Amino acid sequence: MNRRISTFLFALSLLACAPVANSQNIIPAPQHMTVGKGQLVLGSKLNLVTNLEGKELENMQEYIKTTQLKVEYTGKKSMRNYLKMTLDPEFKLGNEGYTLKVNSKGAEIVAKTSDGLFYGLQSLLQLAEERNFKSVIAVEIEDEPRFEYRGLHLDESRHFSSKEFVKKQLDALARYKMNRFHWHLTDGAGWRLEIKKYPRLTNFAAWRPYETWKEWWKADRLYCNQDDPAARGGFYTQEDVKEILEYAEMRHITIVPEIEMPGHSEEVLAAYPMLSCANDMYKNSDFCIGKEATFAFLEDVLTEVIDLFPSHYIHIGGDEAVKSGWKTCPDCQRRMKEEGLENVDELQSYMIHRIEEFVNSKGRDIIGWDEILEGGLAPNATVMSWRGEEGGITAAKAGHRVVMTPGGFCYLDNYQTDPSTQPEAIGGYLTLEKVYSYNPVPASFTEEQADLILGVQGNVWREYMPTLEHTEYMIYPRLIALSEVGWTNLENKDWESFRKRVNLEIPRLIEKGYNPFTLSTMIDTPMRVDYDKKEIKVALQCERLGMDIHYTTDGSEPTVNSPLYKDSLTVKETMHLKARAFKDGKPAGDILSKRIDYHKAIGKKVTLAKPYSKNYPASGEKSLVDGYRGGKGYGDGLWLGFLNNDVDAVIDLGEKTDLSYISTLGMQAKGPYVWLPKYVQIQISDDGKNFTDLARLTHDISTEREEVTFHDFIWEGKASARYVRIYAPIVDIDGGWIFLDEIIVQ
Ligand code: ACM
Ligand code: ZN
Repeated sequence: MNRRISTFLFALSLLACAPVANSQNIIPAPQHMTVGKGQLVLGSKLNLVTNLEGKELENMQEYIKTTQLKVEYTGKKSMRNYLKMTLDPEFKLGNEGYTLKVNSKGAEIVAKTSDGLFYGLQSLLQLAEERNFKSVIAVEIEDEPRFEYRGLHLDESRHFSSKEFVKKQLDALARYKMNRFHWHLTDGAGWRLEIKKYPRLTNFAAWRPYETWKEWWKADRLYCNQDDPAARGGFYTQEDVKEILEYAEMRHITIVPEIEMPGHSEEVLAAYPMLSCANDMYKNSDFCIGKEATFAFLEDVLTEVIDLFPSHYIHIGGDEAVKSGWKTCPDCQRRMKEEGLENVDELQSYMIHRIEEFVNSKGRDIIGWDEILEGGLAPNATVMSWRGEEGGITAAKAGHRVVMTPGGFCYLDNYQTDPSTQPEAIGGYLTLEKVYSYNPVPASFTEEQADLILGVQGNVWREYMPTLEHTEYMIYPRLIALSEVGWTNLENKDWESFRKRVNLEIPRLIEKGYNPFTLSTMIDTPMRVDYDKKEIKVALQCERLGMDIHYTTDGSEPTVNSPLYKDSLTVKETMHLKARAFKDGKPAGDILSKRIDYHKAIGKKVTLAKPYSKNYPASGEKSLVDGYRGGKGYGDGLWLGFLNNDVDAVIDLGEKTDLSYISTLGMQAKGPYVWLPKYVQIQISDDGKNFTDLARLTHDISTEREEVTFHDFIWEGKASARYVRIYAPIVDIDGGWIFLDEIIVQ
């Protein structure tokens, strides 16, 4: 509750102190833009001069009416005060490309398609908005997207939103030139789409007797009838969907519907238990693939979906099937025998192949989460890579098309700043800068493989987003960063430029009624370790601009009277840094407190008795002594991850060395099974063979603790040795991770 209020106050202060605009604040950044002399004054209405016709003309006019740009259409030519929108079949750029020229006489957009004209209009609108729709600076823009698929995914199952909410997000997608809305309409927490043939999907499986997903999940996970007074949830009627589809079409957005199969289908199996292996409610989460009834059901559903949605791609889910029920189900076993399937992965693949044939027979293609690769990928399938990029890489190398949505860059349900300051999220950590840094084409790709990467998408899973406000808070501004990932060529991307533009964009979004996260005031400390000079340069920065950062190095709390940060700080040995952002002399964020060491183990040889995980390799074992400290999230490339394994590291300091301080930092994040080590044992040795105990450091943080927690294991004293051993065993729990960023030896 408090957090909401303070966010709101921050937003207000941002509105009052927005940085001065420059004239090139378009998001996503155009590929080429030159600012000319003069301006177009927006006094009276602009005359729309266009060769658009029919529905395309109608849509464009209707859309313009929803904006602040005053335009009228008389069908006549006009020599001044015009908005020309010209379709040119010979146009030099791609389907979504456009040129926009603005001078004192008017604005002219040229494109091959109405999509391109629409994106030219978006750029014009952003330029006009910068000057309060009083004028537009003279510009020439030549622009087209890097990727053809630029999407947002929204989970409607865990929490249901509303027609109005969806339309509002479509407005934002249009503003940022994004063109796909992946609508996750079905999942185990509720079915959200009217299917005429199967009414129990929406009069039963769309309702839960709990307000939030978390209450429901922690209780019995039962559904209820729509007319139950306790019923919460909802669904979209086919009429609702048609209305939303028209809204999307006017904004040049394709809605890709998702119908989950074979997993994440508890709600269907509660409504129609005969489609499960157990023939019973609340027993399985996967469809029974042995039964023909399953295929009859799915084909009926997909027929209605295909009749309703014009999207070429139909998303068939495919993720996280449990598959265990299939191993003992007589129907599934019979199917496997008849079809000569070796294992349950092949059984899943059998299903996806069959569904693909059906969808193809209707002139459409399937797209699915990367698990559809398991057991053999269907021939025409497109893969949405979410468990990292591996699935996408495998698929592209086999000649399949790919949309990249890897968790480490595209999961907008992760925390976006220090978790201790945020409303509860599912876990993980994904800052705006990390999203912005994403390049959907793997470095190893050939040009041909790169062409198979259709684009990129942000995924919004809503387990921990019970309200619409909170959902927007998680979407924005990270989606804005993703729009530039999808649109702007690498050579035109620039974090510092984006940071300025997104700082200007936040108050605009608030003015339009959105609830964005208003950018972090958490102090970030990017470092550069200089191994020759034996020192570390530390910068202090935060996402939100216009802040004064004050810091201390004597352990005291920073105040406005403490030194103001200007240039990077130099650490020769140990610095006890405290820093805080201030705005107008008042604290505007939490205090960062961090010890930074150019320590005695930096660059020394480390030997691990047990391997680290290849999924979180940082820069190998040497990352434990490279001087670089991890941030708030284990996925930042600085934390070394150990899966189901103890950490057992020996550092060779090269010669007998005086020791006064040894420490290592661990973290716990319950959701993703990241645990602090049970304890940290420190041993020392002179020969690397015979070790003696120096300390056994414990902690009292329970594995039940929900909040992301960091703990420093510290020994201080007097000793002398050549070898230091750190032994940090995994807790007695059913598997999980240990992450360490550094072992500090002073
Ligand atoms: C997913 O996040 N399960 C696709
Ligand atoms: Zn079965």
